[in-house]
Amino acid sequence: MDDNSLPKFDVLPQHVGFIMDGNGRWAQQRGLPRYKGHIEGAKTFRVIGEYAADIGIKCMTFYAFSTENWRRPKEEVNAIMNLFREYLKEADERKAENEEKGIHMTFLGDRSNLPMDMKMLMNKIERVSGKQHKVIVNIAINYGSREEITHSAREIAKKVKSGVLSPDDITEETVTNHLYTAGQPDLDLIIRPSGEHRLSNFMLWQAAYAEFWSSNVLWPDFSKEDLNEALREFEKRNRRFGGV
Ligand code: FPP
Repeated sequence: MDDNSLPKFDVLPQHVGFIMDGNGRWAQQRGLPRYKGHIEGAKTFRVIGEYAADIGIKCMTFYAFSTENWRRPKEEVNAIMNLFREYLKEADERKAENEEKGIHMTFLGDRSNLPMDMKMLMNKIERVSGKQHKVIVNIAINYGSREEITHSAREIAKKVKSGVLSPDDITEETVTNHLYTAGQPDLDLIIRPSGEHRLSNFMLWQAAYAEFWSSNVLWPDFSKEDLNEALREFEKRNRRFGGV
């Protein structure tokens, strides 16, 4: 999209991670059940994902459900899963639009214990959108960074056992290439609204040099202007990657 009304940035992060936090509090503040906050949060996800692609972010990850989130009440887990299912159906139906925008959708996390209908849709969406390379949109679902790194280690171990890889040839790149994000840039910027300053098991490996931006706004209220503010702040950061 070439729109003069969109802001321009001197430097844009290649990969932005969004920790979509604060849905529960948003609902509680309004005397509503927590799941209503997730409904609003899913709307924000759609608006922000589209806007981020329009302003030129080439890779983004939305943290939707962590490996620890199963500990929440069953009704809340079901509500989040149903929102995700709805979104999958919508993304499948909107494949022409995704194709036009060049969006490759992928899902990060352990799919083994997700419902079969969701797994099938996730595989289909990834396969169909996989030919497109302009923008990568990752949704992290049943995702935990420690699980991801463990999974990478297991895959590498299998290769060593079968003799296709020697232990001495294992490098940082080998680990990177066996993560769910293989082939994608490292995170440059993590955005966490709702006043929390934690990574919460989100992309620990990929975030090695990421900038962190947080604000008190709750995710359902997170706006395009908030994203602009985070990106303006990112432009000003002096990233040294361990150098001087
Ligand atoms: C964290 O806020 C949010 C979640 C655990 C769920 C996020 C899920 C969505 C936004 C919907 C996912 C759907 C799609 C389509 C990707 P919280 O509940 O921990 O908030 P709190 O800290 O205020 O309790």
